[in-house]
Amino acid sequence: MEVNKRGQWGSNLGFLLASVGSAIGLGNLWAFPYKMGKSGGFAFLAIYLVLVVLVGIVLMLGEFALGRHTGHGAGGAYAALAKKYSFVGWMAVISPFLILAFYCLLGGMVLRYCLGFLMQIFGADGFVGQGSDFFGWLRYDSTSMLLFLAIFLAITMFIVMGGIKGGIERFSKAVMPALAVILVVIIVFVAIQPGAKEGYAFMFKPNAETFSTPKDFFDVLKTASGQMFFSLSVGMGINITFGSYLSKDRSLQRNAVIVPVADTVFALLAGMMILPACAAFGVDYAQGPGLLFASMQKVFLDGMGGMAGNVIGFLFYFLVFIAAITSSIALLEVCTAFIVDKQLDKGKEPKRRAVTAIFVVLIFIIAIPVALDALGSGGAAVKAPYELMGLTPDSEGFAMWNDCWLDFYDMITEGILMPLGALIMSLIMGWALPNLVKNECEESGHKFKGAQYFKFCFRFVVPAVMILVLYTQITSFFG
Ligand code: PFF
Repeated sequence: MEVNKRGQWGSNLGFLLASVGSAIGLGNLWAFPYKMGKSGGFAFLAIYLVLVVLVGIVLMLGEFALGRHTGHGAGGAYAALAKKYSFVGWMAVISPFLILAFYCLLGGMVLRYCLGFLMQIFGADGFVGQGSDFFGWLRYDSTSMLLFLAIFLAITMFIVMGGIKGGIERFSKAVMPALAVILVVIIVFVAIQPGAKEGYAFMFKPNAETFSTPKDFFDVLKTASGQMFFSLSVGMGINITFGSYLSKDRSLQRNAVIVPVADTVFALLAGMMILPACAAFGVDYAQGPGLLFASMQKVFLDGMGGMAGNVIGFLFYFLVFIAAITSSIALLEVCTAFIVDKQLDKGKEPKRRAVTAIFVVLIFIIAIPVALDALGSGGAAVKAPYELMGLTPDSEGFAMWNDCWLDFYDMITEGILMPLGALIMSLIMGWALPNLVKNECEESGHKFKGAQYFKFCFRFVVPAVMILVLYTQITSFFG
Protein backbone atom coordinates (compact mmCIF):
# COMPACT_ATOMS: atom_id res chain seq x y z
CA MET A 1 0.00 0.00 0.00
CA GLU A 2 2.67 2.45 1.05
CA VAL A 3 4.82 1.47 -1.89
CA ASN A 4 2.00 2.38 -4.27
CA LYS A 5 1.52 5.77 -2.69
CA ARG A 6 5.20 6.51 -3.16
CA GLY A 7 5.12 5.20 -6.72
CA GLN A 8 6.99 2.36 -8.41
CA TRP A 9 8.60 1.67 -11.77
CA GLY A 10 6.37 -0.11 -14.25
CA SER A 11 9.25 -2.23 -15.56
CA ASN A 12 12.96 -2.78 -15.19
CA LEU A 13 13.46 -1.26 -18.64
CA GLY A 14 11.69 1.90 -17.51
CA PHE A 15 13.89 2.10 -14.43
CA LEU A 16 17.00 1.52 -16.52
CA LEU A 17 16.13 4.15 -19.09
CA ALA A 18 15.32 6.66 -16.37
CA SER A 19 18.61 5.90 -14.60
CA VAL A 20 20.60 6.03 -17.80
CA GLY A 21 18.70 9.22 -18.69
CA SER A 22 19.68 10.75 -15.36
CA ALA A 23 23.31 9.83 -15.89
CA ILE A 24 23.52 11.01 -19.49
CA GLY A 25 23.26 14.76 -19.62
CA LEU A 26 25.25 17.94 -19.85
CA GLY A 27 28.01 16.11 -18.01
CA ASN A 28 28.54 13.90 -21.07
CA LEU A 29 27.74 16.35 -23.82
CA TRP A 30 29.10 19.55 -22.39
CA ALA A 31 31.68 18.75 -19.69
CA PHE A 32 33.31 15.52 -20.91
CA PRO A 33 34.44 16.75 -24.35
CA TYR A 34 35.70 20.08 -23.06
CA LYS A 35 37.53 18.54 -20.10
CA MET A 36 39.06 15.98 -22.38
CA GLY A 37 39.97 18.77 -24.80
CA LYS A 38 41.69 20.70 -22.02
CA SER A 39 43.23 17.83 -20.07
CA GLY A 40 45.30 16.03 -22.64
CA GLY A 41 42.89 13.78 -24.54
CA PHE A 42 43.75 10.13 -24.08
CA ALA A 43 45.45 10.61 -20.70
CA PHE A 44 42.25 11.97 -19.26
CA LEU A 45 40.23 9.19 -20.83
CA ALA A 46 42.43 6.44 -19.39
CA ILE A 47 42.17 7.74 -15.83
CA TYR A 48 38.47 8.36 -16.21
CA LEU A 49 37.85 4.73 -17.22
CA VAL A 50 39.81 3.38 -14.25
CA LEU A 51 37.77 5.58 -11.90
CA VAL A 52 34.47 4.40 -13.34
CA VAL A 53 35.42 0.79 -12.62
CA LEU A 54 36.97 1.30 -9.18
CA VAL A 55 34.69 3.98 -7.79
CA GLY A 56 31.67 4.69 -9.99
CA ILE A 57 30.22 1.19 -10.27
CA VAL A 58 30.83 0.55 -6.58
CA LEU A 59 29.08 3.73 -5.44
CA MET A 60 26.18 3.16 -7.76
CA LEU A 61 25.58 -0.34 -6.44
CA GLY A 62 25.78 0.93 -2.86
CA GLU A 63 23.23 3.64 -3.59
CA PHE A 64 20.76 1.37 -5.40
CA ALA A 65 20.99 -1.10 -2.53
CA LEU A 66 20.54 1.56 0.13
CA GLY A 67 17.44 2.94 -1.60
CA ARG A 68 15.75 -0.38 -2.14
CA HIS A 69 16.70 -1.71 1.29
CA THR A 70 15.19 1.23 3.16
CA GLY A 71 12.36 1.97 0.70
CA HIS A 72 13.15 5.66 1.08
CA GLY A 73 14.59 8.43 -1.04
CA ALA A 74 17.93 9.98 -0.14
CA GLY A 75 16.71 11.95 2.86
CA GLY A 76 14.90 9.14 4.61
CA ALA A 77 17.28 6.34 3.63
CA TYR A 78 20.16 7.40 5.86
CA ALA A 79 17.82 8.22 8.74
CA ALA A 80 16.31 4.74 8.38
CA LEU A 81 19.76 3.17 8.88
CA ALA A 82 20.40 5.13 12.05
CA LYS A 83 19.46 8.55 13.40
CA LYS A 84 23.10 9.62 13.52
CA TYR A 85 23.38 9.28 9.71
CA SER A 86 20.49 11.67 9.01
CA PHE A 87 22.84 14.52 8.09
CA VAL A 88 24.20 12.53 5.14
CA GLY A 89 20.65 12.40 3.77
CA TRP A 90 20.42 16.15 4.04
CA MET A 91 23.68 16.55 2.14
CA ALA A 92 22.36 14.25 -0.55
CA VAL A 93 19.32 16.50 -1.01
CA ILE A 94 21.08 19.87 -0.85
CA SER A 95 23.32 18.86 -3.77
CA PRO A 96 20.58 18.32 -6.37
CA PHE A 97 18.82 21.45 -5.14
CA LEU A 98 21.90 23.60 -5.80
CA ILE A 99 22.83 21.78 -9.01
CA LEU A 100 19.36 22.41 -10.41
CA ALA A 101 19.96 26.15 -10.13
CA PHE A 102 22.73 26.07 -12.70
CA TYR A 103 21.73 22.94 -14.58
CA CYS A 104 18.38 24.46 -15.56
CA LEU A 105 20.09 27.66 -16.63
CA LEU A 106 22.44 25.74 -18.93
CA GLY A 107 19.47 23.70 -20.15
CA GLY A 108 17.59 26.92 -20.87
CA MET A 109 20.53 28.27 -22.87
CA VAL A 110 20.62 25.04 -24.87
CA LEU A 111 16.93 25.51 -25.57
CA ARG A 112 17.64 29.03 -26.84
CA TYR A 113 20.27 27.72 -29.27
CA CYS A 114 17.88 25.00 -30.39
CA LEU A 115 15.22 27.60 -31.10
CA GLY A 116 17.76 29.78 -32.89
CA PHE A 117 18.66 27.05 -35.36
CA LEU A 118 15.00 26.19 -35.86
CA MET A 119 14.33 29.81 -36.83
CA GLN A 120 17.31 29.72 -39.18
CA ILE A 121 15.82 26.67 -40.92
CA PHE A 122 12.73 28.72 -41.67
CA GLY A 123 14.79 31.58 -43.06
CA ALA A 124 14.61 33.88 -40.03
CA ASP A 125 17.63 35.21 -38.14
CA GLY A 126 17.77 33.02 -35.04
CA PHE A 127 20.63 34.83 -33.34
CA VAL A 128 19.59 38.51 -33.19
CA GLY A 129 22.13 39.57 -35.79
CA GLN A 130 25.04 38.34 -33.67
CA GLY A 131 25.94 35.25 -35.71
CA SER A 132 28.57 33.21 -33.92
CA ASP A 133 29.16 35.99 -31.36
CA PHE A 134 25.76 35.14 -29.93
CA PHE A 135 27.21 33.61 -26.74
CA GLY A 136 28.67 36.98 -25.74
CA TRP A 137 25.32 38.69 -26.29
CA LEU A 138 23.13 36.07 -24.60
CA ARG A 139 25.12 36.13 -21.36
CA TYR A 140 24.26 39.80 -20.84
CA ASP A 141 20.63 39.60 -21.91
CA SER A 142 18.82 39.28 -18.59
CA THR A 143 15.41 38.77 -20.18
CA SER A 144 16.47 35.77 -22.29
CA MET A 145 18.46 34.21 -19.47
CA LEU A 146 15.56 34.37 -17.00
CA LEU A 147 12.95 33.43 -19.57
CA PHE A 148 14.69 30.30 -20.82
CA LEU A 149 15.66 29.29 -17.29
CA ALA A 150 11.97 29.54 -16.37
CA ILE A 151 10.84 27.53 -19.40
CA PHE A 152 13.33 24.75 -18.75
CA LEU A 153 12.39 24.61 -15.06
CA ALA A 154 8.68 24.52 -15.91
CA ILE A 155 9.12 21.57 -18.29
CA THR A 156 11.08 19.72 -15.61
CA MET A 157 8.36 20.46 -13.09
CA PHE A 158 5.49 19.13 -15.19
CA ILE A 159 7.22 15.83 -15.84
CA VAL A 160 8.04 15.29 -12.17
CA MET A 161 4.49 16.20 -11.16
CA GLY A 162 3.35 13.28 -13.32
CA GLY A 163 4.95 10.87 -10.85
CA ILE A 164 7.30 7.94 -11.33
CA LYS A 165 5.53 5.68 -13.78
CA GLY A 166 3.33 8.20 -15.59
CA GLY A 167 5.86 11.04 -15.65
CA ILE A 168 9.54 10.15 -15.43
CA GLU A 169 9.36 6.60 -16.77
CA ARG A 170 7.04 7.41 -19.66
CA PHE A 171 9.10 10.40 -20.74
CA SER A 172 12.41 8.53 -20.53
CA LYS A 173 11.11 5.61 -22.55
CA ALA A 174 9.91 7.94 -25.28
CA VAL A 175 12.98 10.11 -25.65
CA MET A 176 16.02 7.96 -24.84
CA PRO A 177 15.89 5.97 -28.08
CA ALA A 178 15.53 9.24 -30.04
CA LEU A 179 18.61 10.54 -28.27
CA ALA A 180 20.66 7.58 -29.43
CA VAL A 181 19.46 7.89 -33.02
CA ILE A 182 20.25 11.62 -33.32
CA LEU A 183 23.68 11.08 -31.81
CA VAL A 184 24.54 8.41 -34.35
CA VAL A 185 23.28 10.54 -37.26
CA ILE A 186 25.49 13.46 -36.24
CA ILE A 187 28.53 11.24 -35.61
CA VAL A 188 28.26 9.79 -39.11
CA PHE A 189 27.79 13.24 -40.61
CA VAL A 190 30.88 14.55 -38.80
CA ALA A 191 32.93 11.48 -39.73
CA ILE A 192 32.60 12.17 -43.45
CA GLN A 193 33.87 15.74 -43.14
CA PRO A 194 37.46 16.24 -44.33
CA GLY A 195 39.86 16.82 -41.43
CA ALA A 196 37.76 15.00 -38.82
CA LYS A 197 40.47 12.33 -38.37
CA GLU A 198 42.63 14.53 -36.20
CA GLY A 199 39.90 14.64 -33.56
CA TYR A 200 39.86 10.85 -33.22
CA ALA A 201 43.63 10.74 -32.94
CA PHE A 202 43.45 13.25 -30.10
CA MET A 203 40.97 11.04 -28.25
CA PHE A 204 42.50 7.62 -28.78
CA LYS A 205 46.24 7.96 -29.33
CA PRO A 206 48.21 7.12 -26.17
CA ASN A 207 50.17 10.16 -25.00
CA ALA A 208 52.11 9.28 -21.86
CA GLU A 209 54.08 12.53 -22.09
CA THR A 210 51.03 14.28 -20.61
CA PHE A 211 52.22 12.92 -17.26
CA SER A 212 55.74 14.33 -17.29
CA THR A 213 55.48 15.40 -13.63
CA PRO A 214 53.48 13.98 -10.70
CA LYS A 215 51.58 17.26 -10.49
CA ASP A 216 50.31 16.77 -14.03
CA PHE A 217 49.06 13.37 -13.02
CA PHE A 218 47.22 14.68 -9.95
CA ASP A 219 45.68 17.53 -11.90
CA VAL A 220 44.23 15.14 -14.44
CA LEU A 221 43.12 12.77 -11.65
CA LYS A 222 41.27 15.59 -9.88
CA THR A 223 39.47 16.69 -13.04
CA ALA A 224 38.60 13.14 -14.03
CA SER A 225 37.20 12.22 -10.63
CA GLY A 226 34.99 15.32 -10.40
CA GLN A 227 33.76 14.49 -13.85
CA MET A 228 33.07 10.88 -12.92
CA PHE A 229 30.85 12.00 -10.01
CA PHE A 230 28.87 14.44 -12.00
CA SER A 231 28.49 12.31 -15.08
CA LEU A 232 27.40 9.11 -13.34
CA SER A 233 25.12 11.06 -10.97
CA VAL A 234 26.71 9.38 -7.96
CA GLY A 235 27.34 10.92 -4.56
CA MET A 236 23.91 12.41 -4.10
CA GLY A 237 20.40 11.12 -3.77
CA ILE A 238 19.54 10.10 -7.32
CA ASN A 239 20.34 6.40 -7.30
CA ILE A 240 19.11 5.97 -3.75
CA THR A 241 15.80 7.53 -4.72
CA PHE A 242 15.47 5.63 -8.00
CA GLY A 243 16.49 2.38 -6.29
CA SER A 244 13.74 2.88 -3.72
CA TYR A 245 11.11 2.62 -6.47
CA LEU A 246 12.50 -0.69 -7.73
CA SER A 247 10.79 -3.96 -6.87
CA LYS A 248 12.68 -6.65 -5.00
CA ASP A 249 12.89 -9.12 -7.87
CA ARG A 250 15.25 -7.03 -10.03
CA SER A 251 18.99 -7.57 -10.16
CA LEU A 252 20.76 -4.60 -8.61
CA GLN A 253 24.21 -5.65 -9.71
CA ARG A 254 23.29 -5.89 -13.35
CA ASN A 255 21.69 -2.45 -13.31
CA ALA A 256 24.66 -0.98 -11.46
CA VAL A 257 26.93 -2.11 -14.29
CA ILE A 258 24.68 -1.23 -17.23
CA VAL A 259 24.13 2.39 -16.16
CA PRO A 260 27.82 3.37 -15.82
CA VAL A 261 28.75 1.50 -19.00
CA ALA A 262 25.98 3.22 -20.97
CA ASP A 263 26.97 6.58 -19.54
CA THR A 264 30.61 6.07 -20.46
CA VAL A 265 29.77 4.92 -23.98
CA PHE A 266 27.67 8.05 -24.41
CA ALA A 267 30.45 10.28 -23.14
CA LEU A 268 32.80 8.70 -25.68
CA LEU A 269 30.25 9.11 -28.46
CA ALA A 270 29.76 12.74 -27.46
CA GLY A 271 33.51 13.20 -27.70
CA MET A 272 33.47 11.51 -31.12
CA MET A 273 30.84 13.96 -32.24
CA ILE A 274 32.29 17.18 -30.87
CA LEU A 275 36.08 16.85 -31.06
CA PRO A 276 36.30 15.72 -34.72
CA ALA A 277 33.76 18.41 -35.65
CA CYS A 278 36.06 21.01 -34.10
CA ALA A 279 39.04 19.48 -35.90
CA ALA A 280 37.24 19.49 -39.25
CA PHE A 281 36.15 23.11 -39.00
CA GLY A 282 39.24 24.56 -37.38
CA VAL A 283 37.69 25.35 -33.99
CA ASP A 284 39.99 25.03 -30.95
CA TYR A 285 38.92 22.18 -28.64
CA ALA A 286 40.87 23.33 -25.64
CA GLN A 287 38.41 26.22 -25.31
CA GLY A 288 36.86 25.22 -22.01
CA PRO A 289 33.23 25.51 -20.95
CA GLY A 290 32.22 27.60 -23.97
CA LEU A 291 32.81 24.57 -26.22
CA LEU A 292 29.18 23.50 -26.28
CA PHE A 293 27.89 27.00 -26.99
CA ALA A 294 30.32 29.31 -28.75
CA SER A 295 32.49 26.70 -30.49
CA MET A 296 29.79 24.32 -31.60
CA GLN A 297 27.64 27.15 -32.89
CA LYS A 298 30.64 28.25 -34.96
CA VAL A 299 30.97 24.72 -36.32
CA PHE A 300 27.36 24.70 -37.55
CA LEU A 301 26.96 28.33 -38.54
CA ASP A 302 30.33 29.18 -40.08
CA GLY A 303 31.94 25.78 -40.67
CA MET A 304 29.14 23.73 -42.22
CA GLY A 305 27.01 26.73 -43.05
CA GLY A 306 23.84 26.80 -45.15
CA MET A 307 20.84 24.57 -44.64
CA ALA A 308 22.95 21.53 -43.63
CA GLY A 309 24.53 23.57 -40.84
CA ASN A 310 21.14 24.79 -39.63
CA VAL A 311 19.53 21.35 -39.63
CA ILE A 312 22.45 19.57 -37.98
CA GLY A 313 22.78 22.48 -35.55
CA PHE A 314 19.14 22.17 -34.59
CA LEU A 315 19.40 18.39 -34.16
CA PHE A 316 22.54 18.79 -32.08
CA TYR A 317 21.02 21.24 -29.60
CA PHE A 318 17.78 19.29 -29.50
CA LEU A 319 19.76 16.21 -28.51
CA VAL A 320 21.54 18.10 -25.75
CA PHE A 321 18.19 19.47 -24.58
CA ILE A 322 16.65 15.98 -24.25
CA ALA A 323 19.70 14.70 -22.41
CA ALA A 324 19.57 17.65 -20.02
CA ILE A 325 15.85 17.25 -19.28
CA THR A 326 16.14 13.56 -18.37
CA SER A 327 18.82 14.61 -15.86
CA SER A 328 17.00 17.60 -14.43
CA ILE A 329 13.88 15.53 -13.74
CA ALA A 330 16.03 13.11 -11.75
CA LEU A 331 17.51 15.97 -9.75
CA LEU A 332 14.10 17.41 -8.97
CA GLU A 333 12.68 13.99 -8.08
CA VAL A 334 15.23 13.68 -5.27
CA CYS A 335 13.95 16.90 -3.73
CA THR A 336 10.28 15.95 -4.17
CA ALA A 337 10.78 12.44 -2.78
CA PHE A 338 12.45 13.90 0.29
CA ILE A 339 9.27 15.69 1.38
CA VAL A 340 6.82 13.10 0.02
CA ASP A 341 8.54 10.44 2.15
CA LYS A 342 8.27 12.66 5.20
CA GLN A 343 4.54 13.15 4.59
CA LEU A 344 4.05 9.40 4.22
CA ASP A 345 6.05 8.66 7.36
CA LYS A 346 3.73 10.96 9.27
CA GLY A 347 0.76 9.06 7.89
CA LYS A 348 -0.35 12.00 5.73
CA GLU A 349 -1.58 11.93 2.15
CA PRO A 350 1.44 12.89 -0.01
CA LYS A 351 1.12 16.13 -1.96
CA ARG A 352 3.52 15.47 -4.85
CA ARG A 353 2.36 18.30 -7.10
CA ALA A 354 2.39 21.03 -4.48
CA VAL A 355 5.75 19.92 -3.11
CA THR A 356 7.27 19.92 -6.58
CA ALA A 357 5.91 23.39 -7.36
CA ILE A 358 7.29 24.87 -4.14
CA PHE A 359 10.74 23.44 -4.86
CA VAL A 360 10.67 24.90 -8.35
CA VAL A 361 9.92 28.39 -7.03
CA LEU A 362 12.79 28.13 -4.54
CA ILE A 363 15.15 26.86 -7.23
CA PHE A 364 14.21 29.72 -9.52
CA ILE A 365 15.02 32.20 -6.76
CA ILE A 366 18.48 30.79 -6.05
CA ALA A 367 19.12 30.55 -9.80
CA ILE A 368 18.65 34.29 -10.33
CA PRO A 369 22.26 35.26 -9.52
CA VAL A 370 23.50 32.39 -11.70
CA ALA A 371 21.44 33.70 -14.60
CA LEU A 372 22.29 37.36 -14.20
CA ASP A 373 26.05 37.54 -13.55
CA ALA A 374 26.90 37.04 -17.27
CA LEU A 375 28.74 33.86 -16.20
CA GLY A 376 31.35 36.01 -14.52
CA SER A 377 32.23 38.21 -17.49
CA GLY A 378 31.96 41.28 -15.28
CA GLY A 379 29.79 44.39 -15.16
CA ALA A 380 26.51 42.47 -15.38
CA ALA A 381 23.16 42.99 -13.63
CA VAL A 382 24.31 40.90 -10.67
CA LYS A 383 27.89 40.90 -9.42
CA ALA A 384 29.83 37.64 -9.54
CA PRO A 385 31.36 36.41 -6.25
CA TYR A 386 34.83 37.73 -7.16
CA GLU A 387 33.38 41.19 -7.85
CA LEU A 388 31.62 41.18 -4.50
CA MET A 389 34.97 40.29 -2.93
CA GLY A 390 36.53 43.33 -4.64
CA LEU A 391 38.76 41.20 -6.92
CA THR A 392 39.46 41.36 -10.63
CA PRO A 393 40.28 38.44 -12.94
CA ASP A 394 43.98 39.35 -12.65
CA SER A 395 44.15 39.70 -8.90
CA GLU A 396 45.45 37.14 -6.50
CA GLY A 397 42.59 35.21 -4.96
CA PHE A 398 40.61 35.01 -8.20
CA ALA A 399 39.81 31.32 -8.55
CA MET A 400 37.64 28.80 -10.29
CA TRP A 401 35.12 28.80 -7.41
CA ASN A 402 34.57 32.57 -7.24
CA ASP A 403 34.68 33.44 -10.94
CA CYS A 404 30.88 33.16 -11.27
CA TRP A 405 27.88 31.94 -9.28
CA LEU A 406 27.64 28.81 -11.40
CA ASP A 407 31.13 27.69 -10.42
CA PHE A 408 30.49 28.63 -6.80
CA TYR A 409 27.44 26.32 -6.60
CA ASP A 410 29.37 23.69 -8.50
CA MET A 411 32.28 23.82 -6.06
CA ILE A 412 29.97 23.34 -3.05
CA THR A 413 28.30 20.31 -4.65
CA GLU A 414 30.70 18.50 -6.96
CA GLY A 415 33.75 19.63 -5.00
CA ILE A 416 32.63 19.11 -1.40
CA LEU A 417 29.17 17.67 -0.67
CA MET A 418 29.29 14.83 -3.19
CA PRO A 419 32.75 13.44 -2.38
CA LEU A 420 32.07 13.89 1.33
CA GLY A 421 28.74 12.05 1.05
CA ALA A 422 30.37 9.31 -0.98
CA LEU A 423 33.17 9.00 1.56
CA ILE A 424 30.72 8.55 4.42
CA MET A 425 28.56 6.13 2.45
CA SER A 426 31.48 3.93 1.51
CA LEU A 427 32.60 3.84 5.15
CA ILE A 428 29.10 2.81 6.23
CA MET A 429 28.90 0.09 3.55
CA GLY A 430 32.47 -1.08 4.09
CA TRP A 431 32.77 -1.03 7.86
CA ALA A 432 29.58 -0.22 9.78
CA LEU A 433 27.07 -2.34 7.80
CA PRO A 434 29.26 -4.62 5.69
CA ASN A 435 26.47 -7.04 4.74
CA LEU A 436 23.83 -4.56 3.62
CA VAL A 437 24.75 -4.47 -0.07
CA LYS A 438 25.28 -8.22 -0.37
CA ASN A 439 22.02 -9.09 1.40
CA GLU A 440 20.01 -6.58 -0.57
CA CYS A 441 21.43 -7.85 -3.87
CA GLU A 442 20.62 -11.42 -2.96
CA GLU A 443 16.99 -10.54 -2.10
CA SER A 444 16.20 -10.87 -5.78
CA GLY A 445 17.53 -14.43 -5.81
CA HIS A 446 20.66 -13.45 -7.76
CA LYS A 447 24.02 -14.49 -6.40
CA PHE A 448 26.19 -11.56 -5.28
CA LYS A 449 29.21 -11.56 -7.56
CA GLY A 450 32.66 -10.17 -6.76
CA ALA A 451 32.04 -9.88 -3.01
CA GLN A 452 35.74 -9.45 -2.23
CA TYR A 453 36.17 -6.79 -4.87
CA PHE A 454 33.26 -4.70 -3.62
CA LYS A 455 34.33 -5.09 -0.01
CA PHE A 456 37.85 -3.92 -0.81
CA CYS A 457 36.61 -0.96 -2.82
CA PHE A 458 34.07 0.16 -0.18
CA ARG A 459 36.66 -0.16 2.58
CA PHE A 460 39.77 1.27 0.98
CA VAL A 461 39.68 2.39 -2.65
CA VAL A 462 36.66 4.69 -2.58
CA PRO A 463 37.61 6.38 0.74
CA ALA A 464 41.18 6.92 -0.48
CA VAL A 465 40.10 8.53 -3.73
CA MET A 466 37.48 10.66 -1.97
CA ILE A 467 40.00 11.94 0.56
CA LEU A 468 42.35 12.83 -2.27
CA VAL A 469 39.61 14.73 -4.10
CA LEU A 470 38.57 16.60 -0.96
CA TYR A 471 42.17 17.41 -0.15
CA THR A 472 42.88 18.88 -3.58
CA GLN A 473 39.60 20.79 -3.43
CA ILE A 474 40.36 22.33 -0.05
CA THR A 475 43.93 23.24 -0.95
CA SER A 476 42.81 24.92 -4.16
CA PHE A 477 40.08 26.75 -2.22
CA PHE A 478 42.57 28.24 0.24
CA GLY A 479 45.39 28.43 -2.27
N1 PFF B 1 24.77 13.06 -14.69
C1 PFF B 1 24.20 14.24 -15.25
C2 PFF B 1 25.04 14.70 -16.40
O1 PFF B 1 26.00 14.03 -16.76
O2 PFF B 1 24.74 15.75 -16.93
C3 PFF B 1 24.12 15.37 -14.28
C4 PFF B 1 23.52 14.98 -13.04
C5 PFF B 1 22.24 14.50 -13.04
C6 PFF B 1 24.26 15.06 -11.93
C7 PFF B 1 21.71 14.08 -11.90
C8 PFF B 1 23.74 14.66 -10.78
C9 PFF B 1 22.48 14.18 -10.79
F1 PFF B 1 21.99 13.79 -9.66
